[in-house]
Amino acid sequence: MNIMVIGGAGYIGSHIVYELIDSGHSVTILDNFSTGMRENVDERARLIEGDMQDLALLKRLFDGSTSDPFDSVFHFAALKAAGESMQEPEKYTSANTVATLNLLNMMMEHDIKNFVFSSSAATYGDPEYLPIDEKHPLKPVNYYGYTKLAIEQALEWYSRLRNLRYAALRYFNAAGYDIHGRITGKERNPANLLPIVMEVAAGIRPKMNVFGNDYPTRDGTCIRDYIHVNDLATAHVKAMEYLESEKRDLVLNLATGKGYTVLEVISESEKVSGRRVAYDITSRREGDPAELVAVSALAKTTIDWKAQHSGLSELVESMWNIYKQK
Ligand code: UFG
Repeated sequence: MNIMVIGGAGYIGSHIVYELIDSGHSVTILDNFSTGMRENVDERARLIEGDMQDLALLKRLFDGSTSDPFDSVFHFAALKAAGESMQEPEKYTSANTVATLNLLNMMMEHDIKNFVFSSSAATYGDPEYLPIDEKHPLKPVNYYGYTKLAIEQALEWYSRLRNLRYAALRYFNAAGYDIHGRITGKERNPANLLPIVMEVAAGIRPKMNVFGNDYPTRDGTCIRDYIHVNDLATAHVKAMEYLESEKRDLVLNLATGKGYTVLEVISESEKVSGRRVAYDITSRREGDPAELVAVSALAKTTIDWKAQHSGLSELVESMWNIYKQK
C-alpha cells in the first residue's frame, strides 16, 4: 500500500517507516525536522521536508499530482512532554489538536479514509485499577493527555459521519532502538527515563535525578510498562492491515503487562553497560502516578500482536548499542 508517514524522521516514526518498507509498503515521509533526524530516515522512503501545518503543501501531497493516491496516513508529528503541556497548553493545542484536525479534514477532502494515530497511556490519567485495559475511564491528568483524547473523540465522530477507518494506539512507555541497528540518531534533550539513564552511562551527562523514592511500590520508585519501539512498529503495520481487511476501527493499548521500577531500570542499565549510573534521589515529579501497567489482550485477539522484544535486558541492550557509540 501507499502510505504517508507524518513525523517519519522522529524517534518512533522512523522505526515504523523501516517496518512498513520491510513489509513491502511504499512510504512517503513528511517531516519538518524540528525533532526528527536525517540519519534516521530510511533511504528507501520518499522524503518531503515540510510542515504538516502547511495546508497548501498537504493539499498538493494529497491531490494525487505528485504521487499515487495514499491508502493510509500515519501520524507521529506531535509534542509529548506532559510537564511542558501544563506550562504551555496553547503550544500543545496548535501542534497536537489543531494540526491533527486540519489533517483529518484534508484527508476527508481527498477521500483518504485510513488513519493510524499515536495515542497515549496519558489518556487514562491516574489508574483506578491495574493493569489498565481499554475500558478503563479516560481522565487525563495533564494537557498532553487531553490533546490525545480530544483527537480520539474526533476520530470516533469521523468514523460515524465520514466512514473514516482509524486505529488509535495507546502507547505505554516507548523505549529501545531498532534491533537491527539501523536507527542511530539519539534524541536531543531527552526527558524520558531510559535515554537519560543511557546518557549517564555513556558519560554524556554526569548524573541524573530519580524523582521520588517514597511511592507505595517494591523499592519506593515508580513502576512503568516499557515497550520496545520495534514491537510498537509491528503493531502499527498489523493495525493498518486490519483496517484495510476488516474495515473496523481499533483502539488498543500497546504494552507488555509487566512493570519495572526506576531503580530496576538503572540497575539493569549498569549491568548491560558495565558502567555506573550516578543518581540523586530528589522530590517527586508532579503528575507521576506510582504505577502504570497495562494489558494488551485486545491487541492479541484483534491483530494477533504481543510484545516480542520488550524484556528489560533486550530493551536496554538495544539502547546501549547506540549510546555506547560516541
Ligand atoms: N524519571 C526519573 N528521572 C528522570 C526521568 C524520569 O526518575 O530523569 C522517572 C519518572 O518520574 C517516572 C519514570 O521515570 O516515574 C518514567 O518517566 P518518563 O518521563 O520516561 O515517562 P512517563 O511515564 O512520565 O511518560 C511517558 C511518555 C508520555 C506517555 C507516558 C505513558 O513520556 O508521553 O509515558 O505512560 F504518555
